[in-house]
Amino acid sequence: MQYFTTASHDLAAAANLLRSGGVVAFPTETVYGLGANAFDAAAVARIFEAKARPTFDPLIVHLPHRNALEDVAEPLTEREAVVARAFWPGPLTLVLRKTARIPGIVTSGLDTVGVRVPAHGVAHELLRLAGVPLAAPSANPFGYLSPTHAEHVVRMLDGRIDGVVDGGATTFGIESTILMLEPEPVLLRHGAVPVEEIEAAIGPVARRTHAQAPAAPGQLEQHYSPSLPLRVVDFTEVPDEERAPAAALAFRDTPSGYAQARALSPRGDLREAAAHLFEVLHALDRSGCARIDVERVPDAGLGAAINDRLRRAAAR
Ligand code: TXA
Ligand code: MG
Repeated sequence: MQYFTTASHDLAAAANLLRSGGVVAFPTETVYGLGANAFDAAAVARIFEAKARPTFDPLIVHLPHRNALEDVAEPLTEREAVVARAFWPGPLTLVLRKTARIPGIVTSGLDTVGVRVPAHGVAHELLRLAGVPLAAPSANPFGYLSPTHAEHVVRMLDGRIDGVVDGGATTFGIESTILMLEPEPVLLRHGAVPVEEIEAAIGPVARRTHAQAPAAPGQLEQHYSPSLPLRVVDFTEVPDEERAPAAALAFRDTPSGYAQARALSPRGDLREAAAHLFEVLHALDRSGCARIDVERVPDAGLGAAINDRLRRAAAR
């Protein structure tokens, strides 16, 4: 696997690799993505292989800017245009009607395609240099903790992918919010844009983040899971003998009596908590403890996306 810095000659080399059918991980403002040319079905197939991802799980297509949309999606409706103008570039994925240029493997045969324009300098530059849209899921084995550092990608996917661009820690630390706007606005995945912000722009948005037959595997009950067993607890109710062998992940104040205890944000900031979530879970997963106990965070704003991931990480 080739390691690329963010120096311009390295980004140009990574872009060349992508253009010639390679699979390269790169940073975005949410998590690291595992990219391939979205127009190249064979390259996209290698993403599924590297992640051991089921082919019923469609990928998000990344664009350098809104103007590149016409190659991948049908023209936006009025409501879609309002949201795209308000939130792109940024951590919001819109599910749109796809064009014929997007191969079926990208969308798992759906006639819709998830699209976003990342707000991240390195992602933007790589997309611009590649000159093709990049299909990119999170750069982790399917179902496992998402990567927020290049080092997470190397540890999880070395030998399975062609390269990684190291852009340091990602900003938000959780994935994009996924939204479908037609025929009615529906939230498909909680993410880095709080749904309240979207509702402030367009009015009520229905929640469909727990579908029976998942339209988005961000909807699978078990997802984002560490290797260790993880449970969501109220720390005031965990007896001492259960604490000693376990690791604790708290929101603000670390509980006593655990083998290891970490706080997501001692000052109680949800943005900071989201940014640290996967990083701390990766570390605790390698702590040698028997289990990870986590507590929920306040459910408002980014808290909904954090709690959503904790719940699914705990599911077995
Ligand atoms: O922040 C993010 O969204 C990151 C970065 C790399 O952009 N990507 C990401 O991709 O989280 P992934 O594959 O881990 O999750 C993408 C989700 C999947 O659950 C997928 O099913 C859903 O997006 N999705 C993609 N296309 C869809 C479609 N046409 N309809 C419904 N859901 C779709
Ligand atoms: Mg993922």
